[in-house]
Amino acid sequence: MAITGVLRPGHAQVRVLNLEEDVKFYRDVLGLVEMGRDGQGRVYFKAWDERDHHSLVLRQADRAGLDIFAFKVDSVATLNKLEKDLNAYGVATRRIPAGEMLHTGERVSFVLPCGHNIELYAEKKDVGNGLPYSNPDPWCKAADTGMAPTRMDHALLGGVELDGARDIFMNVLGFYMTEEVVAEDGKTQIAIWLSCSNKNHDIAFVRAPENGMLHHVSYFIETWERVLRAADLMSMNKVPVDIGPTRHGITRGATIYAFDRSGNRFETFSGGYIAYPDMHKLTWPLDTLPEGLDFPQRKLHESFLTVFTWPSRAPEPFQAPGSLPLGTSGAFPRRRTSSRFLFCAPFALELSRHVADPEFHWRRICRWLRGQNLRNAFAAQ
Ligand SMILES: [Fe+2]
Repeated sequence: MAITGVLRPGHAQVRVLNLEEDVKFYRDVLGLVEMGRDGQGRVYFKAWDERDHHSLVLRQADRAGLDIFAFKVDSVATLNKLEKDLNAYGVATRRIPAGEMLHTGERVSFVLPCGHNIELYAEKKDVGNGLPYSNPDPWCKAADTGMAPTRMDHALLGGVELDGARDIFMNVLGFYMTEEVVAEDGKTQIAIWLSCSNKNHDIAFVRAPENGMLHHVSYFIETWERVLRAADLMSMNKVPVDIGPTRHGITRGATIYAFDRSGNRFETFSGGYIAYPDMHKLTWPLDTLPEGLDFPQRKLHESFLTVFTWPSRAPEPFQAPGSLPLGTSGAFPRRRTSSRFLFCAPFALELSRHVADPEFHWRRICRWLRGQNLRNAFAAQ
């Protein structure tokens, strides 16, 4: 077996504001398969081509965001070893008993320095993809429901302590870095893409002014044509789109970003290159971020850079009155209110000022960030 250790993203548990409304969205519009409900009221989904019981769990809450992002490992022995390795690295862990989540074995839970709850587990029921394991057809009826992603692919998480998260994933869990966005100093990482497989990323992190934030959970779509079909379905179902359809320079993936009924950003993603651990990482200096983000338009998108959903356990963040136009300017129609998003208010205000400036340049943002001491590395310059 060539892929060992951590195999892939296993599940995301996402908080939603109106459970039934988002169940309908994820099942009928995104096109996931509803797999069951538990005694806590959580609802379980999987993408049609996934074989394990679930990859998305929705939980009703009073604010949107991410509770858990979990990875499946290859065996119970690996789970035990990685827990010991985490402890030896100084990371506290706790065990969550088998069965706490439907059809899922014991989980090892820990909190990253950037505030996100990460879990590892080895066992989840194989329920198949609706096709037999002998002489299967290429797809089944569920592959034509909604946008019909084939898998939950990755997540982008935001926090202050990106370096600590990077070190745990790379030094303990065996991930390797495929791409990075670096600041003007050429070394401070603003965002990183990490892989445990030969996908170009299984998780990514971006520096943000507050820990524990969710930028997006991504779902893999088989082809660019299906991404365009997903765009049609978003419009037909009045799903608020953030950016796209377009193609990233970073990862070369074709993409659309949009919001679920609670304001959690999700991505429908396709393509990108196959990665291997011996490949040299790709570096994007900060002033090339426009093409890294949106290659055709070479454009930064204010909402994409500033809108996150909440940490799972955090004090009410400061929201400057000036941040409200970001949520009410039409970028996020429907019933969104500022309280449903964490607008990184000081950052958002400054960024919006610069984006509106015809001489906008990321170097100016860097100088402002340095001045605000939001990134320790800048302070050390
Ligand atoms: Fe993504």
